[in-house]
Amino acid sequence: MTKTTLLHEGKAKKVFLTDQSDLVIQEFKDDATAFNNKKKGTIADKGVVNNAISCRLFTLLEEQGIRTHLVEKLSDRDMLCKRLDIIKVEVVVRNIAAGSLVKRYGFKEGFVLQQPIVEFYLKDDDLDDPLMNDAHAVALGVATAEELVILKSRAEAINLVLRQFFADRKLKLVDFKLEFGRHKNEILLGDEISPDTCRFWDLDTNEKMDKDRFRFDMGGVENAYSEVQKRVLELD
Ligand code: TMP
Repeated sequence: MTKTTLLHEGKAKKVFLTDQSDLVIQEFKDDATAFNNKKKGTIADKGVVNNAISCRLFTLLEEQGIRTHLVEKLSDRDMLCKRLDIIKVEVVVRNIAAGSLVKRYGFKEGFVLQQPIVEFYLKDDDLDDPLMNDAHAVALGVATAEELVILKSRAEAINLVLRQFFADRKLKLVDFKLEFGRHKNEILLGDEISPDTCRFWDLDTNEKMDKDRFRFDMGGVENAYSEVQKRVLELD
């Protein structure tokens, strides 16, 4: 399978068309951004690490009956995927209060939520990805009410699988962001799941092991990413 035309370049990945019209290749970059591009940098080998972690997690989800866009890991940085019509909804799942939940609602960071919270954000960089409810999403035409029900229940199912997987590896899954897309009458999980898109805290020390280290200049970013990779792959 070879890359043909560059279809899209995002902040952390490039997406290429291939010689098969329903397949694309996601190439993971080392570029890092935060706060919707206001902060920019690179994280050495992030692309390699995030591709490895994402491929492992998408395989895990497939094994648990959750359909994803993953076809196969092609190389260090390349993931072969089914081509999706991306749904412009970012689905965030939260188990523990952090980030914008703390900022917006005044939860104390680290407060353990009795039930996971699922939130929808409009995927639109020009508008700074605003939080939205189902009615906004339907009115905007980004998803149907039926699709939103599927996104929420799919996100909850993914949370159960991932939470246990990470607990077994001594990591708390604090929160994470998912993207979904349409492919041949099905909704598949797309994008990536990595320390760029999740918050992970060490189970014993609560040390932050994710992109918050880059966002807030905490240092040790590369070490945190590679430690997550090690724990994700070590029990295989
Ligand atoms: P937040 O607390 O900043 O809303 O982020 C919630 C989760 O979503 C966190 O794990 C980071 C992830 N996330 C992304 O992957 N992309 C984004 O653009 C944002 C804002 C958050």
